[in-house]
Amino acid sequence: MNEVMNAILSRRSIRKYTDKPVPEEILGELVDAALHAPSGMCGKTWNFTVVCGKDAIKKLCTAISEALGRSGYDMYGPAALIIPSNLKENRFGKEDNACALQNIFIAAQSYGVSSVWINQLQGICDSPVIRPVLREFGIPDDHVVYGIAALGYADPSQPAPVYKNAGKVRYVR
Ligand SMILES: Cc1cc2nc3c(=O)[nH]c(=O)nc-3n(C[C@H](O)[C@H](O)[C@H](O)COP(=O)(O)O)c2cc1C
Repeated sequence: MNEVMNAILSRRSIRKYTDKPVPEEILGELVDAALHAPSGMCGKTWNFTVVCGKDAIKKLCTAISEALGRSGYDMYGPAALIIPSNLKENRFGKEDNACALQNIFIAAQSYGVSSVWINQLQGICDSPVIRPVLREFGIPDDHVVYGIAALGYADPSQPAPVYKNAGKVRYVR
């Protein structure tokens, strides 16, 4: 099995992280992986915002808690976030950002960095408690966040999630 296949097959969503920071050089590589994802009609109207300070992550989590009325929301305590955003008017924005996120997840796995997709911002970006935080992070007001990559080193106390194998595969010749 080659390294790419190994990263794809070994990646799992991780929901408990240690406090160990993810080196900025690795985060830069992950952004590069995202920038190389395919995009509808080569639109590439996306932005990638890297959040690596615990206080900044907490600020966004607190705003999400408030917007959703869900106390103590912490995105599973990651060391860093990469927030892809995209122009609201780009009709391929969601798909483009999903491709970028998957590139981030696979590249992260290749560096031993774990990840999970955080979906909570979908639909609440323009909430009066969320938009000011996104603005403070430099995310344009005409952008939407479809998903976030939460990143960090897996806490070894977390048992590996049991893989639910699903989806039919058929070859037609
Ligand atoms: C569109 C999408 C949204 C997701 N949202 C969340 C989320 O908000 N929180 C979470 O813990 N996992 C989220 N996940 C991760 C899935 O739960 C996870 O990929 C699935 O359970 C399969 O597990 P695996 O990633 O370990 O293979 C999301 C995944 C996708 C593709």
